[in-house]
Amino acid sequence: MTIMHGTRQSCFGLYVHWPFCVHKCPYCDFNSRVPTAVDHADWRRVFLLALDYAVTEMPKGRHLGSVFFGGGTPSLMEPATVATVLERAVVSWPFAADVEVTLEANPSDSDRLTDFRVAGVNRLSLGVQALDDSALCLLGRLHDTSQALAAIDIARHIFPKLSLDLIYARPGQPLEAWQRELEWAMTLAADHFSLYQLTLEPGTAFFADRASGGLVLPDEDTSADFYQMTQEITTTAGLTAYEVSNYARQGDECRHNMATWQGGDTVGIGPGAHGRLTLNDCPKGMNTIATRQHRTPEVWRARVESGTHQTVSYLSRAERIEELVMMGLRLTAGIDRALFHNLVGRSLESVISVQALESLAESGFVVLDAASLRVTPAGRLVLDEILRQLLA
Ligand SMILES: C[S@@+](CC[C@H](N)C(=O)[O-])C[C@H]1O[C@@H](n2cnc3c(N)ncnc32)[C@H](O)[C@@H]1O
Ligand code: SF4
Repeated sequence: MTIMHGTRQSCFGLYVHWPFCVHKCPYCDFNSRVPTAVDHADWRRVFLLALDYAVTEMPKGRHLGSVFFGGGTPSLMEPATVATVLERAVVSWPFAADVEVTLEANPSDSDRLTDFRVAGVNRLSLGVQALDDSALCLLGRLHDTSQALAAIDIARHIFPKLSLDLIYARPGQPLEAWQRELEWAMTLAADHFSLYQLTLEPGTAFFADRASGGLVLPDEDTSADFYQMTQEITTTAGLTAYEVSNYARQGDECRHNMATWQGGDTVGIGPGAHGRLTLNDCPKGMNTIATRQHRTPEVWRARVESGTHQTVSYLSRAERIEELVMMGLRLTAGIDRALFHNLVGRSLESVISVQALESLAESGFVVLDAASLRVTPAGRLVLDEILRQLLA
């Protein structure tokens, strides 16, 4: 099996999942647990083992373009663990000269930010979530607004790139309150924002609260107003909405996520981490290997010892097409047709419903030109329906 060369596929990303948090937020369905104790030295050792396995899967010679420490709360990792993982990665694969190394952090961990920078992190993604103490309390956060502002101030002086996460369309949040909060956020010297509408995910405390009538979210029309206002305020502030929930100054898009959304290769290590590896000359068009590591932290840790911590499978061409279309249409730039052809060996228009495409284009929801297929601003509001029709 041969690796594709000469395309952006020759760079790949490394995702490292830290599965622990101090406390479980009531809206969160990420793979995160609240442990009674963490043996940091042993987790460090096991991450290195998992990385060594991954090195055997990703052939030498390919460049590492980005590393992303996600979670959970990776700012609870010992900085020495982050440093050690990066040191092992750099001896295993050549790093791109402008490698992006992101770490997700909670504002309460601002005292270790300098150590993360020294460890090699050059982009911080700070989970601010709200600039309003009562909202932070409702979201079950352990920090308040003044701690978030202090963490932003420290981070801005330490990291070349800073991103802030905020959650909006929260229960009881008036539109005007979000306007004030977001306008304030725009003054906070960050170069990237992830602005998420609150979603209620099965299995979370908020999901149960809604089922019992104790929590009400804005209706569909009001949600659309929240989204529209978010687009306007970010545009006025000079940011580009490059993905449904992500906004950046030009050149400050999250490189790791962009590459993933465009179908780039990723090595994933840690509980629940996923990976993708694109190969040439495989049977029946199944040229994408999908890796998935065991979700439960202690099971994952035990299984790494014997190399049984992940499942490896081929994605069928149909599965790969579906994920590329779903991820690509979330991007404002849409699906790059040449890249799509490179990845699946078929033209885009030969694998999606042409009838649906024509009708959606006529209604002003999508645009297809020589370079790409993309969703218009009107289409963005009905993205799920567009995907349903195109993939039918
Ligand atoms: C893995 S979490 C971030 C890491 C860090 N532990 C934190 O909480 O700041 C990634 C981001 O997803 C967003 N998020 C998680 N669950 C969400 C939900 N149900 N609705 C909207 N945004 C959500 C939050 O903004 C969060 O910062
Ligand atoms: S939102 Fe962040 S801190 Fe809260 S439970 Fe999820 S991963 Fe942990």
